[in-house]
Amino acid sequence: MKIMVVGGGGREHAIIKKLKENKTVTEIFAVPGNAGMANDAVLVDIGAKEIDKIVAFAKENNIDYAVVAPDDPLVLGAVDALEEIGIFCFGPNKNAAIIEGSKVFSKNLMKKYNIPTAQYEVFNDIDNALKYLETAPIPTVIKADGLALGKGVIIALTREEAIDAVKSMMEDKVFGKSGDNIVIEEFLEGPEVSVLSFTDGKTVVPMISSMDHKRAGDNDTGLNTGGMGTIAPNPYYTKEIAEECMEKIFIPTMNAMNNEGRTFKGCLYFGLMLTKNGPKVIEYNCRFGDPETQVVLPLLKTDLLTVMQAVTNETLKETKVEFMDKNACCVIMASKGYPQSYEKGFEMIIPREIENSVYVAGASFKENKLVTNGGRVLGATAVSDSLEDAIKKAYEMVKTISFENAYYRNDIGQKALKAKGE
Ligand code: AMP
Ligand code: GLY
Repeated sequence: MKIMVVGGGGREHAIIKKLKENKTVTEIFAVPGNAGMANDAVLVDIGAKEIDKIVAFAKENNIDYAVVAPDDPLVLGAVDALEEIGIFCFGPNKNAAIIEGSKVFSKNLMKKYNIPTAQYEVFNDIDNALKYLETAPIPTVIKADGLALGKGVIIALTREEAIDAVKSMMEDKVFGKSGDNIVIEEFLEGPEVSVLSFTDGKTVVPMISSMDHKRAGDNDTGLNTGGMGTIAPNPYYTKEIAEECMEKIFIPTMNAMNNEGRTFKGCLYFGLMLTKNGPKVIEYNCRFGDPETQVVLPLLKTDLLTVMQAVTNETLKETKVEFMDKNACCVIMASKGYPQSYEKGFEMIIPREIENSVYVAGASFKENKLVTNGGRVLGATAVSDSLEDAIKKAYEMVKTISFENAYYRNDIGQKALKAKGE
């Protein structure tokens, strides 16, 4: 089988490595991929948002199956366009990807179907938003409606910060059109859990839970990033909470999308907060999380392509999806300065013995050498029987990888270890 994976980060590298385990897979094309995955896939120089070119490439190269991983092409309708020429895909259609593409849509969906989430108001007019803020409970959370590279959420600890956030989104348009509509919502507190799930619109199968580390600095300080590391499973996510989430969140969300004529097929990501009033949805994503995927997929026992095809064929119910009874830890190595400005073009040395455990997110070739080419450069994932050992092994790997200006957090997994009492 010839497979095409759209996207170019660490998540896509993890997906590609897992797909390669299937013996029927003869060739994988990464569109665009990055130089760090050149040993695992054929790199195709087409951007993930260039849908027409992606479709033409798939047709010319007789692609049998396509996995569209990032939010942008999904929201733009890449799956619809590929399906139109008869290519089987993993990923939601455009009308279902809106669950991530519009926060106003997802909040209204949750309200309509009684799915637990933070209380909120929607505004398309700055004066009304500012008036609301005069009496809104503080802290409060301001969210731009559309995709904003994961940066469209501002937690305002004071009324002044809230006013500034609204002005920056609605007046200065720092997130462009994404700020035409905004959501102002209740500030929730509690441990956060990421649960990725496979769903074909008939069945929803949660994957092993995970914990992201979004802030740039140790002890959750500094700016928000795309994610500096992950562990799985998440110790806060007990069996009881999992059952409650299935009943009150996962199945109701799948049914709600069906009811709206927007059947979701693919990976539906639930960003949850375990509040003292029960689990609540912080956000939905229409795709695998990054870097959650780099700990979740290494723990998947079942063949990934088989599960993905079951989603496409709507036979997920008959497919066993099993995870190992182990722990995983992924430490992201970034370029110093990320998520703000950083330098790139530094030579990267990844020892051959650990290549299989390294997912490259941002690299290119310079004079045949692998060099850094992004804020998040790579993730090193270790799997072990205990979380403590997985953390230890992930950091041992990180210490053997080198590139100039490398930066990583030193405390990935520590909060989880404490929660486990280890
Ligand atoms: P998002 O970009 O939607 O993942 O949000 C980024 C981060 O903001 C989340 O991971 C949470 O830590 C935080 N956040 C989002 N919404 C809320 C909320 N209502 N209350 C508290 N924290 C929130
Ligand atoms: N790690 C969070 C996300 O993928 O959105």
